[in-house]
Amino acid sequence: MAIPTPIPALRHPFLEPLPLAGGRALPNRILPGPMEGITTGAFGAVLSRAGYVRCWVTPFLRLTTGVPRPARLREHLLPYLEAGLPFVVQVMGIHTELLCAAAVRLAELGAIGIDLNCACPSRTVLANGAGGARLRHPEWIATALRALRQAVPACGLSVKLRSGLLDPAEMADILPAVAAAAPDFVTLHFRTAAEAYARVPGGWQRLARARELLPGILLLGCGDVLTAADALRLRAETGVDGVAAARGLLRNPRLLLDIEDACAGRTPRPLGRCHSLARLREMALLALESGGNRPGFVLEVARTMLGERDPLFQDLSRCRTLLQTADRLAAEVPSKETHDPQSCS
Ligand SMILES: Cc1cc2nc3c(=O)[nH]c(=O)nc-3n(C[C@H](O)[C@H](O)[C@H](O)COP(=O)(O)O)c2cc1C
Repeated sequence: MAIPTPIPALRHPFLEPLPLAGGRALPNRILPGPMEGITTGAFGAVLSRAGYVRCWVTPFLRLTTGVPRPARLREHLLPYLEAGLPFVVQVMGIHTELLCAAAVRLAELGAIGIDLNCACPSRTVLANGAGGARLRHPEWIATALRALRQAVPACGLSVKLRSGLLDPAEMADILPAVAAAAPDFVTLHFRTAAEAYARVPGGWQRLARARELLPGILLLGCGDVLTAADALRLRAETGVDGVAAARGLLRNPRLLLDIEDACAGRTPRPLGRCHSLARLREMALLALESGGNRPGFVLEVARTMLGERDPLFQDLSRCRTLLQTADRLAAEVPSKETHDPQSCS
């Protein structure tokens, strides 16, 4: 009797490389969502150093009246250049020629891809017609993507979308236009720009609909992926090809690796409290080293990580300086930890 050949286990699609134009690729389809004011600076640096991310998508670079000079662009990119990981630079604006001119300079400075922001829900941005307001003009998005492709043909090209400006039904116009311009991938945050960060029951169904409206284009789902289990459920419920997780990184800086573990069938190892606090302390020390003094962003990370009711968060919220914050955190972390991560029990 013929012995049946074992069927090789299928690799989870999120673990596949994410191919970009020019023969390049991102290591997999589990990306950090950009967070303006957070992923740049000490937060991003600590995640890079700890090896919790494999690549970065920068927060938006807003182009309003001109293209910043190379020195200024380099300054914008410095945290990512220093991290030494592949990075995609997000640009935002309404003038295609400015976006293209900036893309050329950004590619020269090392960007592996350019991501067009058509998603930002900030009132100021919307009032200027940029970010999420671009969703009102699907043909503009397609034209801008084609122009960017021509400007930087050897660079990856992607677009960050929401499910609409006001109504997810807008996807029926937006997504076919985007698909026709053939970006390398699309990231879709399921909320509309008007919904900002509101709770939207059943919101992921919009991602399943988007998957249907974008045939042949890699689609990364975004929104409310806070744990590795959420990422597996996202794939099962929507069929998206990958995930971009943002706020979940504040709760668990190791989230992307946990998602990789879960996709590979390994048990995720979320950072315990001690390790998380050690990372938070590193952020405070790094920010201090770079000349910062106010504990603002460390407190924001602590708020999400610990919750407002946590007595440690309440203590931290009374710290007036980064040094006080770092000292208070040091009391929670074995002194060896910074050098020996295993020392956290
Ligand atoms: C503080 C903050 C800043 C953000 N900045 C950007 C940005 O610059 N560009 C962008 O495309 N999305 C930005 N986002 C949106 C996130 O990348 C992500 O799409 C959104 O938070 C939903 O995903 P999540 O539920 O995993 O957080 C930001 C989100 C936060 C909370």
